[in-house]
Amino acid sequence: MDSIRIKGGKPLNGTIKISGAKNAALPLMVACLLTEETVTLSNLPHVADISTLINLLCQHGTNAHLNGESSKNGSSNGRAISLTASEITSTEAPYEIVRKMRAGALVLGPLLARMGEAKVSLPGGCAIGTRPMNLHLDALEAMGAKIEIDAGYMIAHAPNGLKGTDIRFDSVSVGATQNILMAACLANGVSVLDNAAREPEITDLVHLLQKMGARIEGEGTERLVVTGQKTLHGANHAVMPDRIETGTYAIAAAIAGGRIELTNTNADLINSVIEILEQSGTTIERTEDGLIASRDPNTPIEGVDVLTHPYPGYPTDMQAQIMALMCVSQGSAMITENIFENRFMHVPELLRLGANINVHGRSALVRGQAELIGAPVMATDLRASVSLVLAGLAAKGETVINRVYHLDRGYERLEEKLAACGADIIRTSGE
Ligand code: EPZ
Repeated sequence: MDSIRIKGGKPLNGTIKISGAKNAALPLMVACLLTEETVTLSNLPHVADISTLINLLCQHGTNAHLNGESSKNGSSNGRAISLTASEITSTEAPYEIVRKMRAGALVLGPLLARMGEAKVSLPGGCAIGTRPMNLHLDALEAMGAKIEIDAGYMIAHAPNGLKGTDIRFDSVSVGATQNILMAACLANGVSVLDNAAREPEITDLVHLLQKMGARIEGEGTERLVVTGQKTLHGANHAVMPDRIETGTYAIAAAIAGGRIELTNTNADLINSVIEILEQSGTTIERTEDGLIASRDPNTPIEGVDVLTHPYPGYPTDMQAQIMALMCVSQGSAMITENIFENRFMHVPELLRLGANINVHGRSALVRGQAELIGAPVMATDLRASVSLVLAGLAAKGETVINRVYHLDRGYERLEEKLAACGADIIRTSGE
């Protein structure tokens, strides 16, 4: 199993090209199941979750063609993929694939809408929480589907098609909004989705669906109105920039000190993160295709309280990273996780590096330390792993992060991008 070794304490200077967003690319790829024609996506990130989803889509009968590879220096425009689901040969999404990646469950709505049936494994819980599917299932039932749970599978039937209806999600869910949005595109009549998630990845999906001929109003708001169509057609679309990768590298500049320019992205996607970073003493300069994050290594990091919320609030996917920064602040910070019930798995590992953190229910009180000391640590999920990388950049001595496969699920060539800015970071295999 690969690990990453970092010798901390070096300021970072350079440019990082941000990849396409994993969390946008996954639902965009699933949308290919809604049409017999080809959907082509460019700016596709080269990360493990994308390969897992390609496997799943092929299992349903999709033809997938990947073009172009990411180049070592990040100068390529990402990969492109053409997905053609002219015939759905299987409506089953097996446990072996869906358990690896929850986004696999997004095929439920599209398969049901197009084929009138779907059998999709329940994704199960994961390190960050129980992550149920009730919002997805309740909405599909409201659209006329008959659903039973049997032997760990969601078995759904709608032989006469789904019918458009008014749906109000009890709480905000990115995945449920995406699943039902896709299903509604092929339903009979009008669906109104209230209390929909407003994450930019949803808007990116709306844009692709509109290019495919879907009629959707209300993009970017909590009310999406979808007028179902009999069929959708093929389309070309560029995956939006990864806002979580953007925020992560902005925090890298903040924690290590130095100046990193982030290109191929959009600062407006991370306004809530920028606000916190500026309060912490980091300078953010917005540019035409991204931003420059900088901090003089002699300027202290201020403690700032952070609460995670659905977009446009501070993202849960940036909670572990900001906690790493607060560990070396000169004050204290209360970090409250409002989205997932168990998303503090990075805390015990940060403690191993000398951090001072006390968790009280959904909040963690971080008392900043003058320094962290490198140590071997272990990652439990994607964002927890990257918070350990960030902490390692600031820590004295060597930090070894094990279980790097978590990182590979969502960060493209992380060690190369950081090394290009002067970080002392290498990947070692087989340990
Ligand atoms: C998406 O997960 C992201 N994944 C997550 O990113 C992200 O953390 C999350 O949204 C929140 O922003 C992808 O886009 C692939 P939710 P999703 O449904 O859609 C509860 C990362 O690190 N809920 O918005 O699964 C749920 O348990 C990953 O890249 C229900 O109760 O998240 C959670 O507490 C991790 N019932 C809350 O809603 C449901 O039916 C938000 O989950 C569905 C969700």
